[in-house]
Amino acid sequence: MDTPRASSERQQVSTNLNYALSTLRARLAQDRWTEVDRYIADLFIQSDPVMDATLRSSSEAGLPPIHVSPPQGRFLMLLAMARGARRILEIGTLAGYSTIWLARALPVDGRLVSLEIDREHASIARANIARAGLSGRVTIRVGSALETLPKLLGEGQGPFDFVFIDADKPSYPDYLEWAIKLGRPGTVIVADNVVREGEIIKARSTDPNTQGIRRFNDALATNDRVIAIEIQTVGSKGYDGFAVALVK
Ligand code: SAH
Ligand code: DHB
Ligand code: MG
Repeated sequence: MDTPRASSERQQVSTNLNYALSTLRARLAQDRWTEVDRYIADLFIQSDPVMDATLRSSSEAGLPPIHVSPPQGRFLMLLAMARGARRILEIGTLAGYSTIWLARALPVDGRLVSLEIDREHASIARANIARAGLSGRVTIRVGSALETLPKLLGEGQGPFDFVFIDADKPSYPDYLEWAIKLGRPGTVIVADNVVREGEIIKARSTDPNTQGIRRFNDALATNDRVIAIEIQTVGSKGYDGFAVALVK
């Protein structure tokens, strides 16, 4: 029989060990996802000085490494190509990495508008887009997207064939409404970060990002204007997910 004290010490050791094990398991899983992403990229994605320079410029400028992964970028390009997109709207530019992938799906007379709140991000992105030879097809609009979106409607910039939502998470429910309003039947809408390492199932989460995405997911699932689903993803960017919707 244990003394109460020995028992409590043993419990503490067991708790610590379980914590260390789950941390280690998570790290091993992430290493594997990153290695498989590299394997996939090596198979399907040619080495590309423009993309390399874009990611380098982003990290050298101290921007957060929250761009899509190379396979995700190619997936976006492929979806936009499958849609035959001629007009693309992106919400959240950062250094223009996903922008360049999407713009490569466009025909020469196609157009992409990307919305970015941060002037410095926009200026880095413009340089990257110029280096990619895509300045003629891509316009970056600086400002809060919720202010720019009504302007796009007023200017008659739509309808867009493809919309990529990847900016501030609390505004996702509004971005969905705008994507539909600026779209037309057949428009494909993709949204990044809808799973958030599984945090998304926590109804009582106090994280405003998680709550924003939860409201977006509810709205997407119940909106009669779209047919939609979400797919969980793992890879070099961790465990997350994409929403994909088609405007009816
Ligand atoms: N799509 C990019 C990553 C975007 S990161 C890629 O995959 O390469 C999110 C970006 O959204 C950041 O640059 C951030 O400044 C921008 N952002 C955040 N809030 C915004 C808002 N309200 N309006 C427009 N852009 C916003
Ligand atoms: C964050 C934002 C993103 O769009 C993303 O893909 C990953 C992380 C963030 O704000 O932390
Ligand atoms: Mg994202």
